[in-house]
Amino acid sequence: MSDRLFVFDTTLRDGEQVPGCQLNTIEKIEVARALESLGVDVIEAGFPISSPGDFNSVREISKAVTWPTICALTRAVEKDIEVAADALLLAKKKRIHTGIGVSPYHIEQKLRSTPEKILARAVEAVKYAKRFVEDVEFYAEDAGRADNEYLARVVEAVIAAGATVVNIPDTTGYCLPAYYGEKIKFLMENVKNIDRAILATHCHNDLGMATANTLAGVLAGARQVEVTINGIGERAGNTSLEEVVMTLKCHKGLNIDTNINTQRITEVSRTVSNLMNMPVQPNKAIVGRNAFAHSSGIHQDGVLKNRETYEIMDPKDVGLDDNAIMLTARSGRAALKHRLELLGYAMEQDELDKVYEEFLKLADSKKEIRDEDLLQLAGDTTGKAALGKIKLKRLQVLSGTVIPTAVVVLEIGGNEFTASGTGNGPVDAAVSAIKSLIDRKVVIDEFLIQAMTKGSDDVGRVHIQIHQVNTSNVVHGFSAKTDVVLAAVEAFIDGVNKLMNKES
Ligand code: KIV
Ligand code: ZN
Repeated sequence: MSDRLFVFDTTLRDGEQVPGCQLNTIEKIEVARALESLGVDVIEAGFPISSPGDFNSVREISKAVTWPTICALTRAVEKDIEVAADALLLAKKKRIHTGIGVSPYHIEQKLRSTPEKILARAVEAVKYAKRFVEDVEFYAEDAGRADNEYLARVVEAVIAAGATVVNIPDTTGYCLPAYYGEKIKFLMENVKNIDRAILATHCHNDLGMATANTLAGVLAGARQVEVTINGIGERAGNTSLEEVVMTLKCHKGLNIDTNINTQRITEVSRTVSNLMNMPVQPNKAIVGRNAFAHSSGIHQDGVLKNRETYEIMDPKDVGLDDNAIMLTARSGRAALKHRLELLGYAMEQDELDKVYEEFLKLADSKKEIRDEDLLQLAGDTTGKAALGKIKLKRLQVLSGTVIPTAVVVLEIGGNEFTASGTGNGPVDAAVSAIKSLIDRKVVIDEFLIQAMTKGSDDVGRVHIQIHQVNTSNVVHGFSAKTDVVLAAVEAFIDGVNKLMNKES
């Protein structure tokens, strides 16, 4: 029988504290529903006393979500607790998360108090919260730098006062995995009433060890993990949900299970990234664009023979269709052959050798070889010529304090067509002009612009996901340019061309 680990998601509270990531109530409800579909046990929906907007969001999420427990944060202050209880009124399952700093830095510098007075406040806060809800979690802020003997006294006292969960945050991301694991072990062994509550990990990533620390805590006995989607959070972020969950899935021998439907991970990650305007770094574990992309020839050859040679997870387990074999100058014949076969070209060895030679020349001058390039190399002039069928001949946009307007000239099947459009910005205007010229109804699902480096002269890389209405055809378009409007339009056209190619 495996042990159950509870997943407490704080994307909407700790995650949302990141400057520029703030969401309105409607967007928060969308994230909360996505978290519910993922199967998290607890959603920390906000800090109600902090603003009327936060109060309202906790209230609306309480109404919108059915299965997970809705949690609201407070300080160890009566008014905070009353307001949180009010915001949670309509939640089907509710929890108040109250707490106070327990490290010498917090007790002496921030709170200007003494350890005994803080212990008494902690107990009072839990007792007060218990008047409103049954499920009370206590956080011992900066537990990572607190003295273990004192921490154990606090934990024991708050459990005696009725806390159902005690959170041991590494608030500053200071701990090492062994050190954090020892702390949890110490509490498991030295707190007499520990069997009456669950210990929770809450790790920040300042030294890049949030996931490692969380897992060390779990191995030492913690049974709730506090995490965020994509690891977002203040400074270097919080522990990422997907990393912890997939680690446990990969290491079945640990015998620890969560309720997470891992196949929803990619979609929920994208929802959060889009709504919060927080691009995911391409090499981010599990959810980064390159997390399942292989570009070295040796790896590609191995993966094509047996996925498990270079992959510890099946991309399908996180909701991706498949791994991505990127064709670059480092790719070998096996990868080229595989891609050509997918495009409908089965080649004999000598023919493949010739194409491979040409491929390497092209790959030296281009970062990534796309299907269009391959078809050209393979000598295709008819049939699949639908690829790249639409070409952008001219683009002119007007934006600023006027209504954004665009004029586009496209070459479609050898003929030129012109259209104009307006929109809420130059990209929207150009996309609407292009849509008026093509005979497929397409919808943009995802639109991401990422700077390559920094500076106003930087190249903007655009990724776009589009689908064709009433079909299951989903494709991704890409482009990179210093002119981000042009890059966005090219990425859209790239996507449309790929859709057409799927059909042919
Ligand atoms: O990092 C932290 O200590 C917190 C608490 C408020 C739980 O986010
Ligand atoms: Zn935190």
